[in-house]
Amino acid sequence: MRTKVTTSVEAAAMEIKKGNVVAFPTETVYGLGADAFNEKAVAKIFSAKHRPADNPLIVHVWNLSQFSQLTDELNPRTAKLARKFFPGPLSLVVKKRKAVPNVVTAGLKKVCVRMPSLQITRKFLKACGTPVAAPSANLSGRPSPTSWRHVLHDLNGKIPLILKGPPCHFGLESTVLDCTVNPPVLLRPGAVSVEQLERQIGKIRIPKKIRKALSPGLKYRHYAPKAKVVLVNSVAEVPPGKNSAFIGFDNSTTSFVANPRTAAEYARFLYDFFRECDLRGIRTIYAQKPSKAGIGRALLDRLTRAAKHN
Ligand code: TXA
Ligand code: MG
Repeated sequence: MRTKVTTSVEAAAMEIKKGNVVAFPTETVYGLGADAFNEKAVAKIFSAKHRPADNPLIVHVWNLSQFSQLTDELNPRTAKLARKFFPGPLSLVVKKRKAVPNVVTAGLKKVCVRMPSLQITRKFLKACGTPVAAPSANLSGRPSPTSWRHVLHDLNGKIPLILKGPPCHFGLESTVLDCTVNPPVLLRPGAVSVEQLERQIGKIRIPKKIRKALSPGLKYRHYAPKAKVVLVNSVAEVPPGKNSAFIGFDNSTTSFVANPRTAAEYARFLYDFFRECDLRGIRTIYAQKPSKAGIGRALLDRLTRAAKHN
């Protein structure tokens, strides 16, 4: 199969209507989407990216009316979060309607819903006319794609079309919050910070260790480059050596370096840096730990996971 790269929202929506999969940009990372109500189409997502069938997908909607196609009732807390953060980088886990196919939720009675804010994504979702189920558009186990080139690298020849957009603004996946329990539980930190959420609805629960039964995706290898990732507090902990790289705020003389100025910039470039390191045959990546404030929590979460898988 030839993979077409296009900026045509209509061409991308047409593939979705035909029951095919399409990669599309969002403000977090690129997604690999299919019509959420078409089981055969959704199955193609799992085979294209070799995703285990027990890992549920986020369903992307264009407006609140599509949201109500997926769930019967929104409790006041959830409605408040949707009003405040939709469209944006927040995914809400709610009780699913029967009509939502089990293949989307991996058999769970809950569905995870998100309304992206990037303009081209909104146009695409509107043109699709149906909620679009989509995980990140990487091969399973690889870092999420933050540019269309990353998608092409992983999925060339495996999907019919990539909708081309700008490099992803946040560069890390959305915040996932389980709203079916009280207080709501943070299943994945992301671009919408804990502080922002708590300002709206009061305390949320942040589990020390997120149970795999709650968010099945977390048991799989994620966000990791081929290189070994080592977390450091400062550049002073980085030994000299070839084939190593450094990402962080400190100045470094390591051969391959990324020097973000802020945590937001660090987040935006992290996955691209991981992929670049792999292309250069880097063996060890030293990553400076950010503080936990704001997007720092999500960044630290991904760095910790990447470091665990060595
Ligand atoms: O920013 C994002 O969230 C991107 C873009 C494309 O929207 N998507 C993304 O999807 O990162 P994915 O599949 O790579 O991660 C979805 C996460 C997984 O950890 C999955 O287990 C969890 O959300 N999830 C999905 N549905 C769930 C559900 N019903 N209950 C609990 N966790 C769920
Ligand atoms: Mg993913």
